[in-house]
Amino acid sequence: MRTPLIAGNWKMNGSLALVERFGEAFSQPEVRLPDGIDIALMVPAPYLEAARRAFSAGPLAFGGQTLHHERHGAFTGEISGAMLAEFGATYVLVGHSERRTLFGEDDAAVCARVKAALTERLTPVLCLGETLEERDAGRTEAVVLGQLEAVFDALSPEERDRLVIAYEPVWAIGTGRTATPEQAQAVHAALRARLADYDAGLAEGMRLLYGGSMKAANAAELLAQPDIDGGLIGGASLQVDDFLVICQSAG
Ligand code: G3H
Repeated sequence: MRTPLIAGNWKMNGSLALVERFGEAFSQPEVRLPDGIDIALMVPAPYLEAARRAFSAGPLAFGGQTLHHERHGAFTGEISGAMLAEFGATYVLVGHSERRTLFGEDDAAVCARVKAALTERLTPVLCLGETLEERDAGRTEAVVLGQLEAVFDALSPEERDRLVIAYEPVWAIGTGRTATPEQAQAVHAALRARLADYDAGLAEGMRLLYGGSMKAANAAELLAQPDIDGGLIGGASLQVDDFLVICQSAG
């Protein structure tokens, strides 16, 4: 049995007040959350300390949205895994499509960042996904499996076990155009089958999240798919009520 993970990605959004609001809302005794799910928010780095304080009494874990592959050095503007860990972060997104396309992170850079996260005992959430052009050209599986292999081929069996994977079709991110449950399930099944080529236990235990316009209204049907083990939620993770409903859909 895989523990579902509902992860919010605030991207470059939010505020100190929003961190406080989430901390308060999720700590209320009357808030009903399913047993046996993990919940995390990937907040902008300046809010890490506020998240540490505001989330300490409740079920929310938190993480970073990216990291540099070095621990420290002359890399102006960058953040290391050691810094994230020092603030109590337990997760970090790696290879989000916005990092790949807007900040030029290629598979080699993504792989180096995954390794850096593992070194700091963070859980990397490795993001994969095809563009609309790639889907229309019938290349979805080739693209996402290639992104998977670029990282997994470079890891030891013990390291592979420590990742979470998020499938995020680029055409569904922030567009309101969600993959259908069948489209998402098909890619998740292909990912799990490829993981089984590495190791059957790895495939069975790996959490595969779906991301791309997941919201309160469509979360339940996506999360009901057999190979969808949670969500990576952007826009809807900025609204306490919507995010709560999504968490409740994971039970
Ligand atoms: O990391 C989250 C994804 O990019 C999804 O964003 O839910 O706003 O489409 P979205």
